Amino acid sequence: MNIVLMGYMGSGKSLIGKELSKKMALEYLDLDDYIEIQEKKSISEIFEEKGEIYFRRKESVYLKEVLEHHKNRVISLGGGTPCFAGNLEIIQNSSSTKSIYLQTSLEELIKRLFKERNKRPLIQHLQTQDELKDFVRKHLFERSFYYNQADYKMVTDKKDSNQIVEESLALLL
Ligand code: S3P
Repeated sequence: MNIVLMGYMGSGKSLIGKELSKKMALEYLDLDDYIEIQEKKSISEIFEEKGEIYFRRKESVYLKEVLEHHKNRVISLGGGTPCFAGNLEIIQNSSSTKSIYLQTSLEELIKRLFKERNKRPLIQHLQTQDELKDFVRKHLFERSFYYNQADYKMVTDKKDSNQIVEESLALLL
């Protein structure tokens, strides 16, 4: 079985993915890390040097590769992964794969993302909290169409990581 975590940047996919994998005694795989290793570049460098279209093409190739060849994992996707190039269908059609959408409120996302926006190519140009909020509100609205097609939805606000992991386990088992 593979568990796929999706959700907006800052929704906690990596942290929850790592903790959930330990609890389930599955291996953990972060798609962004996998892309960085395969491409021998950081995500920021890929965006800067090759552009987003190249990144999205590679993201889709590596998603397929990971789902085909790596079983029994908890896999954290990038925030945009399910929203491009038929990736959602790839996830939905992958046998014994269950997906969870980590749903985090706009306010909470802004709190988390403002501090660390420099690491994220899509939002690093946004200077103020208000600019970031306007961007994320619209972006999240567009992306929710895809995220909401996950097998399960987990609201993360006002919960610590333990609680999110326990509730995810209850959904899955
Ligand atoms: C992206 C999210 C990032 C990374 C890339 C694009 C997105 O991953 O894949 O910067 O389109 O939302 P995280 O969600 O892990 O930050």
